[in-house]
Amino acid sequence: MRWNPQQYAKFHNERSQPFFDLLTRVGGDPKTIYDLGCGDGRLTKELLTYWPDAHVTGIDLSAEMIEQANSIDHDSRLSFRRADITDFAPAEPVDLIVSNAVFQWIPDHLSIIERLTSHLSDAGTIAFQVPDNSTAASHRLIDSLIESPQWHAQLRKLESHPSVPLSLESYAEHLLHLGLHVIAWETTYLHILNSPNAIVEWMKGTTLLPILNLLNEAAQARFLSEYMDLLSATYLQYDFGVFFPFRRLFCIASRI
Ligand SMILES: C[S@@+](CC[C@H](N)C(=O)[O-])C[C@H]1O[C@@H](n2cnc3c(N)ncnc32)[C@H](O)[C@@H]1O
Repeated sequence: MRWNPQQYAKFHNERSQPFFDLLTRVGGDPKTIYDLGCGDGRLTKELLTYWPDAHVTGIDLSAEMIEQANSIDHDSRLSFRRADITDFAPAEPVDLIVSNAVFQWIPDHLSIIERLTSHLSDAGTIAFQVPDNSTAASHRLIDSLIESPQWHAQLRKLESHPSVPLSLESYAEHLLHLGLHVIAWETTYLHILNSPNAIVEWMKGTTLLPILNLLNEAAQARFLSEYMDLLSATYLQYDFGVFFPFRRLFCIASRI
């Protein structure tokens, strides 16, 4: 799938907060860190402010994202590489694996997470955050459009529509059964955006991508306009803007 780093970065502050909230509860002194699904690399670089003595590697499948990541100013402690998380296999055991807002794009990611834990060092940790907003109006309205008669035929090839089918308990249970120590929590961020159109812009950076990739320019405009109408009818416009609640799940699992 083709990512657009500029579109994704439009809500950098709102999207960054969960990454920092996740790291607040990661302890230890990791020397080798991988950021899986690192995107444009800006947050990956931040890992060095927490652990200046570490070597950090950002991994992403998107050529556009890796190109953007390589363009940021960085020293030899940080590197980026294009690779698929589903067959990610580091040469050496890893002290810390971080993954922010990525696993929802990977079907059957529980088995991938299990495989990743086998690459942790003796004191290693995996820390991840996944959005859990598939029941939010912003997502339900997209689903209703996809299933509607006017779009169903054009969008039936849709495969990588992201979703989080798992509850927080399911992630935690799986990781506990692997013998790991687990901290898990969930949070709803109440973003305040300017207008329903800002929700469209937000979704164009992520959830809408696989949909828009299947449509020509005219159809994209039509889909976005129909989506915008639905959002405007659903999200209350206040004088300060619109509330855009966004639920996210957090898991940190450690060997010790
Ligand atoms: C929503 S972005 C998150 C980027 C970054 N972690 C952040 O928080 O800013 C999801 C990223 O996951 C990457 N991704 C999705 N599936 C992947 C896979 N199988 N292997 C590697 N990267 C993947 C995408 O290319 C995209 O850059």
